[in-house]
Amino acid sequence: MKHEDIKKVLSDADMVGSKSVVCGWVRSFRESANVAFLDLSDGSSFQKLQVVVDRNHLLVPPACTKLGAAVRVEGRVVPAYRGEGNDLDAENIELLGECPPDYPIQKKRTTLEFLRGIPHLRLRTNTFQAVFRVRSVAAQAIHRFFHMHGFYYINTPLITASDCEGAGEMFRVTTQPWNAQYKSEEEYFKNDFFGVKAGLSVSGQLEGEVAATALGKIYTFGPSFRAENSNTTRHLAEFWHIEPEVAFAQLPDVIRLAESLLKYLIRAVLRECKDELKFFDTFVEKGLIEKLTHVATSKFAVCTYTDAVSILEKENSRFEFPVHWGSDLQSEHEKYLTEVVFGRPVFVTDYPKEIKSFYMKQNADGKTVAATDLLVPGIGEIIGGSEREADLGKLVAAMEARGMDMAAYRQYLDLRRFGSVPHGGFGLGFERFVMYCTGVENIRDVTLFPRSVKNIM
Ligand code: 4AD
Repeated sequence: MKHEDIKKVLSDADMVGSKSVVCGWVRSFRESANVAFLDLSDGSSFQKLQVVVDRNHLLVPPACTKLGAAVRVEGRVVPAYRGEGNDLDAENIELLGECPPDYPIQKKRTTLEFLRGIPHLRLRTNTFQAVFRVRSVAAQAIHRFFHMHGFYYINTPLITASDCEGAGEMFRVTTQPWNAQYKSEEEYFKNDFFGVKAGLSVSGQLEGEVAATALGKIYTFGPSFRAENSNTTRHLAEFWHIEPEVAFAQLPDVIRLAESLLKYLIRAVLRECKDELKFFDTFVEKGLIEKLTHVATSKFAVCTYTDAVSILEKENSRFEFPVHWGSDLQSEHEKYLTEVVFGRPVFVTDYPKEIKSFYMKQNADGKTVAATDLLVPGIGEIIGGSEREADLGKLVAAMEARGMDMAAYRQYLDLRRFGSVPHGGFGLGFERFVMYCTGVENIRDVTLFPRSVKNIM
């Protein structure tokens, strides 16, 4: 169907005077004695196109005036009767799809909670269109950033036999139902599709390391799956994960890369999503643009876990879970650090080895590992990463201490046998980044069809 994007018709001064065809959904209809106005949206821009109808010359079919109806309009582009940009003087209006009055997206502002119940229609609202435009701009910027810096884009497998984080949060992948005839789990899995226990990958990191220790600098950008039973506003069972991995890199290199990626992405969103950010700044998080501008230009803080715990211990009375050295930081502690103590993003580094994954580089103190989490105000952890243990003996010892099945990690261990190098990387949760940029507080509202505990609509 030949037509122009509304975004172009609205903003292209060269189109004034020319004939054009647009298609879209009716957002509002107003009429007076001589003129009628249809506001149309086709998803290409935040602003709606005003279609102006001279009622003395053209009849608007009644079905085309209904909220949500899909229409095709032929007309002439004219300078906007009010404000900036262009309007379209209608010459012909045609109904593409009617929209009856039980259309659930009505004009009055509805709650995000209500809209969660109609995920197939909520994208027709300003809020969700703006979220998904920001999401798309950020995704493009991610590829641009890494391409510009010489990283290769790698696609790691989604079905895996190893649990990267070692936390037992994998969804199982199977083609056979449980059958009481099997005497053991081992026998059961032997008869399954892959002949071993398989699951959906929680992270592409281990395969990313394979690629980085040959290609130098790689990144993945794909879905990760976690069967975590955490029904929070920042966890999904299926989320998109950006995971760069770099050879010849140590923890400070990982931190530098994470900071420059985040700043680059924020600048891209500030530049390319001006209308969307203005909308979020007005209706979702007051001061959002100022926050993002400040973050894009100021240095992130860095603080060791040990120092962070000393700071937090003094405030233990305010926390539900008091902190001590060795305890995992909860969301309340992460938020306190980044929002109250530092007032900006902060990399917490060098965590106790017991609370982090087996693959992290063991520090000389024998107690901590060269890990880092980036905490940001409003969200808490947005990035988790580390330098990886490159020493075969130390890695094997860490795995044995955790009782891991060494045979399943033979290939991973080979990377330490054949030309091992210092290397590291991190994982950025894409939805958490989109939340941060839009001010949207629930991760389910930045995902097309969110999957979480007891929720697969
Ligand atoms: O800290 P995580 O678990 O780190 C890893 O998976 C490493 N293997 C990454 C690496 O070093 N290559 O997860 C990384 C990030 C988190 O900081 C968070 O932003 C996001 O992934 N994330 C989730 N996002 C939404 N829902 C969940 N259930 C998430 N779990 C982690």
